[in-house]
Amino acid sequence: MLCAGATWDKHTGRNLHAMAQRPRTSHRNAWQLHIMDDVTLARALHVLGVVIWIGGVAMATMVVLPAVRRGDLGPDRMRGFQAIEHRFIWIARTAVVVVGLTGLYMIIRLGIWDRFQMAATYWWMYAMVVVWLIFAFVLFIGEPFILHRFFPRWVREQPDAAFATLHRVHWVLLGLSVITIFGAVAGAHGWNPF
Ligand code: HEM
Repeated sequence: MLCAGATWDKHTGRNLHAMAQRPRTSHRNAWQLHIMDDVTLARALHVLGVVIWIGGVAMATMVVLPAVRRGDLGPDRMRGFQAIEHRFIWIARTAVVVVGLTGLYMIIRLGIWDRFQMAATYWWMYAMVVVWLIFAFVLFIGEPFILHRFFPRWVREQPDAAFATLHRVHWVLLGLSVITIFGAVAGAHGWNPF
């Protein structure tokens, strides 16, 4: 279903562009313009964070892990993997924080909490929060407290199985992220197949 709103729509905020082009200004217009400015900035930072973070996950899944598994980065696969992972993890953590804060900011400023009561239409809002929660857990708790403790030993004992499992988990996370991005862009721009 395609729906283009010509008046103010608190669900998308899209019509505020039209408000910006009106010559007449009132208190209400000025207020809505202000909302649009900061929501647009939040949206730009949100998408930038998503691109850097999920782009990195895609790179790790489709390029780095296959190379590590084949031993292309050297015979010490753990070392090859960690050299890349150590550098990316802080980038990913920063992006996750930016995406979470900007997402929350947009919800508050657009007043769209009620979307969470319309799961069929706004499933992608749930998807964003779920993907965010999974990655926040993996990056801030799973990586330092679980992966660092158990993964090196697992790699020493069963390297093939350990990296194959890690790779599989990356594919699942990437798949969920791609579906979420597709749904979020389509949904935020008014397309809803249900
Ligand atoms: C706590 C986590 C998150 C919150 C609260 C949140 C919230 C939001 C909100 C309110 C919007 C604007 C929706 C609209 O304009 O109708 C949005 C857009 C979007 N979000 Fe999130 N989000 C979160 C996490 C994520 C994650 C993890 C991803 C990617 C995997 C993501 C990808 C996107 C994309 C691609 C858009 C569409 C931007 C556009 O085309 O205008 N978000 N998000």
